[in-house]
Amino acid sequence: MTVNLITALSKKVEELSDAEATAELKWLASEIKRHNYIYHNYDRSEIADADYDRLFKRNSAIERQFPLLVRQDSPNNRVGARTISTFNKVEHLIPMLSLDNAFSKTEMSDFGCRIRRFLNLRDDEPITFVAEPKIDGLSVSIRYENGRFVRAATRGDGLFGEDVTDNVRTLKELPVQLNGNDVPKVIEIRGEVYLSHDDFEVLNQRQKDENWKTFSNPRNAAAGSLRQLDAKITASRPLRFFAYGWGEATSLPSDTHTGVVAAFKRWGLPTNLLIEKHDKVEALIKYYSDIIQQRVLLGYDIDGVVYKVDRIDWQYRLGASARAPRWAIAYKLPAEQAITTLDDIEIQVGRTGALTPVAKLRPVTVGGVVISNATLHNEDEIIRKDIRIGDMVRIQRAGDVIPRVLGTIKNSRHKNSEAYIFPSICPACGSKAVREIDKKTGKADSIRRCTGGLICPAQAKERLKHFVSRNAFDIEGLGSKQIEFLFEDGRVRNPAELFKLEYNNSKSSQPLEDQKGYGLLSVEKLFAAIRARRTISLERFIYSLGIRHVGETTARTLAHAFGDWCTLQKKVAVADANVNDEAYTCIMNIEGIGPSVASAVTDFFKEEHNLFFLKELLSHVNINSVIPPFQHKSDIAGKTVAFTGTLQNLSRNEAKAQAIRQGAKVVSSISKNTDYLVAGITTGSKLSKAERFGITVLNESEWISLLNE
Ligand code: IVH
Repeated sequence: MTVNLITALSKKVEELSDAEATAELKWLASEIKRHNYIYHNYDRSEIADADYDRLFKRNSAIERQFPLLVRQDSPNNRVGARTISTFNKVEHLIPMLSLDNAFSKTEMSDFGCRIRRFLNLRDDEPITFVAEPKIDGLSVSIRYENGRFVRAATRGDGLFGEDVTDNVRTLKELPVQLNGNDVPKVIEIRGEVYLSHDDFEVLNQRQKDENWKTFSNPRNAAAGSLRQLDAKITASRPLRFFAYGWGEATSLPSDTHTGVVAAFKRWGLPTNLLIEKHDKVEALIKYYSDIIQQRVLLGYDIDGVVYKVDRIDWQYRLGASARAPRWAIAYKLPAEQAITTLDDIEIQVGRTGALTPVAKLRPVTVGGVVISNATLHNEDEIIRKDIRIGDMVRIQRAGDVIPRVLGTIKNSRHKNSEAYIFPSICPACGSKAVREIDKKTGKADSIRRCTGGLICPAQAKERLKHFVSRNAFDIEGLGSKQIEFLFEDGRVRNPAELFKLEYNNSKSSQPLEDQKGYGLLSVEKLFAAIRARRTISLERFIYSLGIRHVGETTARTLAHAFGDWCTLQKKVAVADANVNDEAYTCIMNIEGIGPSVASAVTDFFKEEHNLFFLKELLSHVNINSVIPPFQHKSDIAGKTVAFTGTLQNLSRNEAKAQAIRQGAKVVSSISKNTDYLVAGITTGSKLSKAERFGITVLNESEWISLLNE
């Protein structure tokens, strides 16, 4: 290797012949690739960093001299082992959830009450909570096997993250080997990657000195540094980590959260010093006010305090909703406000036609973030607050919620200002924009909607953006700007056309690679990203359709209830959405689904053009069926269960959560398809109905022994 290196670097670049340059570029490409591979897969290097850099520089110098000889696999194209074009996906077998938020003392004590109710605890039974700062960074999951660091992934959508092993491996605070005799065989450490204030300042100064873009805050800098395709860049950034939880684990070193975190510390992992345990609400609230006071002295950004139930058996019983655990809550920092000028009001048209007024503001810093847009909610809000273009307005930013305009400073108003008139035609397609009248209340809806439907380009673009978005098809490289371009250019007008883009491009006289902002490599990357999404999970597919009222959680609920696309289509794509209709009743019967979702879904499948578009789309994609989340054998897995009456040992909510955890489907009303009715103390009509249908009725203790948890 040393001999080759000397030979390679011995001749001046200007003196190389074409043949020599070709041979050397080939050798450099494979040599650099080999070093990347060794570095990342075996955690060692055969070459000093300076020599590695010389190889890279030599390669670039030859490429500059011989541009026609640049190889497809050039190390500069960042498609080698260390410079992969995208990150691989990693599945989180235990989802990485979010946290529910509380913004007031009342919401905090509601949280405590909910837990007490769910666990059916006596009023005098103490609940110990852990309190710790909520660090404003980005969460990662780090897998250790036999104590050895093997993999790291970002949170992603909570179910699938990105493989950032090479990047996280460069964090100096993280041990490659955990030390201790109680380290489990497998444990995924969950925690936050962040930057300290001091390191952030130094990094930004460095960026400035090098004439590179600076970062707006430590969180963005940490995120940008972690998601580097070249792990060497990550290594040069002083990223820090603190461990606050775990995912998959073959065993745990303690039966309390604080016990496990103490073990993390013994094993060599960084944990937060400010973690405390309390069981009195007053002490928990005091912890919050103390942290707020100390905030500027902490040396890193926080966006609140996290409270967690300390007993792990209770955490398990409490479980989680689709979004967040029931055993933890984030008490967010107070919202921050600022005053600035309202330069304009822009009307955005959403994918369902909703016209949303957006305040275009003179840029202003609120809590360290520059804000130039804020929501004005709707027409009535603007009228009620009499907000006018040119006014000085007060804006508020609370955590990661979209900033909003609170009101206007009337005495600063310009004499000639005029009240704002909300448009009654769609700014994108000119169709009438109307406020629907609620059939029940007779009141006009607060949202004005464009009636253009399919002819409205804004709605079509927004539907496409939704379709490719992170929690739907998640197509890398297709942001808002690219969708605008592909749509305006007539290349992609609906989701099915996305999957035809590569084929059409191969026949086009004006291929995408010749368009401004695109090149061969980026087009190839885009096609690869689209190809990679031809297979999709059922819940993502349902979500991607953009049905009104069907967000991520509802899409997941529907996916789990139907299991696969064929069943869903068979049961739902029939008849009308009225209460007697089979499809409507079938959806209404799903636990957690209400009438507005049921009508929206049935309405969607009634529309001729939706069915046409679905047929097109289905010829391009494969939809995976749902794999039941609970794999171990349970007598109730796959069964349909309903509950009635008051239970003695469990709350109704805990009983339902247990059933779902074990793979059962919980329904709110019974039908001939129900397998079990679990009856507590009741005078209700479900019992007699169950007898009529011949459904097995279980009392509470029979139910508990069936669960066998
Ligand atoms: S516990 C199931 N503890 O906040 C989720 N999260 O807004 C349990 N975060 O995704 C999370 N500091 O990235 C927990 N001390 C802390 C935290 C913390 C920051 C982040 C985490 C999470 C996000 C939710």
